[in-house]
Amino acid sequence: MIIAIDGPAGVGKSSVAKLLAARLGYLYLDTGALYRAIAWKVLHNQVEPADHARVVGLLETTSIHMQFQNGSMQVVVDGRDITGELRTPEVTSAASIVSAIPRVREWLLPVQRQIGQRGSVVAEGRDIGTKVFPFAPLKFFLDADATVRAERRHRELVAAGHREALETTYQDLSGRDTRDRNRSVAPLVPAADARPIDTSTLNIEQVVAQIMAAVSAAL
Ligand code: DC
Repeated sequence: MIIAIDGPAGVGKSSVAKLLAARLGYLYLDTGALYRAIAWKVLHNQVEPADHARVVGLLETTSIHMQFQNGSMQVVVDGRDITGELRTPEVTSAASIVSAIPRVREWLLPVQRQIGQRGSVVAEGRDIGTKVFPFAPLKFFLDADATVRAERRHRELVAAGHREALETTYQDLSGRDTRDRNRSVAPLVPAADARPIDTSTLNIEQVVAQIMAAVSAAL
């Protein structure tokens, strides 16, 4: 069983997917971390994220592995565990840019599908239901008002020790939304058979409860 959860930034996908995976005893696959890992490598090599040719060239000498421990996922790039370095504003912004490069998406497909082969996975991202696991029996598309999402993301940033104005978070999130929804390959759109959930007025528990009800009905 693969459960696909897609949606824009700040919608609560990661918290929901993580909790759901823990409840079900499934693996939690955070596909955004893979795009972030490539962005990390790009920045680490002083390559401009929008320089398609150089970004694609870097892939030839890149290895990505994931380790799953106690419900969380660690990302190892070229033998180094970089999980703790993936949530900075620089990596966030670069991930949004490199994720629009078709070859980057193509390169990451088998990496994601290999994990899917293990079965019992909750996978979270932007194109899980449409591209990565189109045959997943259960798909959910989470969405929420952009202001609510910016406030959530801002609270997370502050809690993690990053200082920035709420307006900056909002602008950044809106910019990423526009890029994610309008890119030519695998844009952020709900799969035709995805169940929509508006999380604007719901907390994590309430979203998980809705999904659990659908999972129980399907099992
Ligand atoms: O979910 P996240 O914020 O960690 O994702 C980081 C970036 O990666 C985001 O800007 C969009 C991109 N992404 C994607 O294009 N496809 C996915 N399946 C997951 C993430």
